[in-house]
Amino acid sequence: MAVSIKSKSEIELMREAGRILAITHEELRKQVKPGMSTYEVDKIGEEIIRSFGCIPSFLNYNGYPASICVSINDEVVHGIPTKKRIIQDDDIVSLDAGVIYKGYHSDAARTLIMPEASEEVRQLVKVTKESFFKGIEKAVPGNRISDISRAIQEYTEAFGDGVVRDLVGHGVGSKLHEEPEVPNFVGHRKGIRLCPGMTIAVEPMINLGTYEVYWEDDDWTVVTEDNLPSAHYENTILITENGAEILSTAPGIEL
Ligand code: MF3
Ligand code: CO
Repeated sequence: MAVSIKSKSEIELMREAGRILAITHEELRKQVKPGMSTYEVDKIGEEIIRSFGCIPSFLNYNGYPASICVSINDEVVHGIPTKKRIIQDDDIVSLDAGVIYKGYHSDAARTLIMPEASEEVRQLVKVTKESFFKGIEKAVPGNRISDISRAIQEYTEAFGDGVVRDLVGHGVGSKLHEEPEVPNFVGHRKGIRLCPGMTIAVEPMINLGTYEVYWEDDDWTVVTEDNLPSAHYENTILITENGAEILSTAPGIEL
């Protein structure tokens, strides 16, 4: 399957999916507090998504058992919510969520900083978010996927952080994961050239230490090899003639 170019009407549906997802993240940012279980976080997120008549993209995706991925500290992504896991005062909490609106997906992640988190992890969260914006500056027609990847990698590695290799961003649309892959590092492949109408999820996963990760026994939770913290930041974007337009956003809402 080639990379799809979305029509005007498909883009409208993705914009609405993105708007609802942005509101979901905003609400979670307000509500998630130390003392809460990751199960509660998932239930709050699911309820908001369903209140818009939407379906959580992740629920039952390849057997994933929840609506929101909640990944704390050294967990990189795909943490499974449970009643036992309680958010602590000094945690960073990565929340990844997806929304299906009329058959179209939006995918976005935010890393929340709890009140007592260290200066070091706050900086990691900031650099991870900034690297996304460095990346999408290169998301202009005629550039290649690798131009986005390079910008993210160069920015984050300058801080000594590790760029996760084992997971990548992706095309998004009528499916959660479409072509092309969007790595956050430069490999041997330059990747396709970007064209207006492409929709991709750009999602740096950045570690304070090594880029190496492993999978826990639940076969989902990805953890840093050295158990140092990791941050995640993601938006669904549209390639336009003038560059990237973020779709997972809404007026008056913090990105
Ligand atoms: N948000 C993830 C991604 O960006 C997908 C989560 S996988 C799931 O690719 F199984 F949890 F849904
Ligand atoms: Co994604």
